[in-house]
Amino acid sequence: MSVEITNEEVLKALAFVMEPELNKDIVSLGLVSEIKTQGNTVSFQVKASNPAMHYRKRLEEACIHQVRRFLGENVAVLAKVGALPKSSKRPPEQRRILPNIKKIIAVASGKGGVGKSTVTANLAAGLAAQGFKVGLVDADIYGPSMPLMFDVFNEKPRVEGEGASNKLVPVENYGVKLLSIGFFAEANQAIVWRGPMASKALSQMFTDVHWGELDIMLIDLPPGTGDIHLQLVQQIPLDGVVIVSTPQAVALADARKGVGMFQLDNIKIPVLGIVENMSWFTPEELPENKYYIFGKDGAKNLAEELKVPLLGQIPLVQSIREAGDTGRPAVLQESTPQALALKDMIDNVLAQIDFD
Ligand SMILES: Nc1ncnc2c1ncn2[C@@H]1O[C@H](COP(=O)(O)OP(=O)(O)OP(=O)(O)O)[C@@H](O)[C@H]1O
Ligand SMILES: [Mg+2]
Repeated sequence: MSVEITNEEVLKALAFVMEPELNKDIVSLGLVSEIKTQGNTVSFQVKASNPAMHYRKRLEEACIHQVRRFLGENVAVLAKVGALPKSSKRPPEQRRILPNIKKIIAVASGKGGVGKSTVTANLAAGLAAQGFKVGLVDADIYGPSMPLMFDVFNEKPRVEGEGASNKLVPVENYGVKLLSIGFFAEANQAIVWRGPMASKALSQMFTDVHWGELDIMLIDLPPGTGDIHLQLVQQIPLDGVVIVSTPQAVALADARKGVGMFQLDNIKIPVLGIVENMSWFTPEELPENKYYIFGKDGAKNLAEELKVPLLGQIPLVQSIREAGDTGRPAVLQESTPQALALKDMIDNVLAQIDFD
């Protein structure tokens, strides 16, 4: 049987799918887009009101069920269910600084090289893929890595406007607006931003830039708890911080200091939780195997001890490193174990952010 399926028929079937939280069908809510039919294959996108993976999965199953009920059990249904940016339903929060940015979240670690930038890049790209408007500030003035991780190291932000009112336009890739101190130095030039110069450069990345309206701005910090951190918490109204650590003792000790700094009485930035990175090593050819080379559950236990959520456990796999080096964050891979672990982390981070 080769009767052509039309978009109208797909919409009619999807009109029987209810959005559980909004209590109305997904078609009249305008949540369905990008319907494509080819032969016996139907594909479309749906936005869900709740970003949790299990919620989106349930909605996906309901869509598949209804399309098959109306159009035949042999129809192949590709339903891509993303999250509806909650903020779009709500009036923007009125903040004096950066009023058009709904949430500003920093990513920090105590120790260097534990995967802060990898986590930040994946958070940013994964959130943008779900439909959030995302900005990313690479505040690692000593070793900026975002231009490489987003494959834009040959680009420079444009300058818009004249004289004193001119502003920078962030570079964009994978739907993420990006600004990095790395754009202002040549690739082979050592960066010698220090003291007042570093501090000025950091301020300018927030104030002299056309960020436009954003749901989330992420800030990738340098390791440790230095001047940049103090300047940031004093100047930028952070809504929360995500701490990244590997499971081994040296990293955990530093992560504890990091958490402690943000929880200081005169700083008090909510710690959204801890991401355990490099939780186990899994070789590509033995995907079922887990080797706990940095110890098992170290950051998970630290999260429990400090009474902050564990936001995810990310495996150490070659392709996460390769994805970073080739400039396409691993979260964008189609259902690999590492992409799933990263998406799970994103769901957990979203669950900690109050968009009200
Ligand atoms: N889960 C992982 N699996 C494989 N490689 C990883 C993983 N996480 C990070 N890496 C790799 O480890 C290296 C360090 O990671 P990254 O640059 O994200 O750390 P960082 O904490 O930002 O470092 P720095 O303190 O220098 O800013 C990178 O080459 C990255 O690709
Ligand atoms: Mg880094």
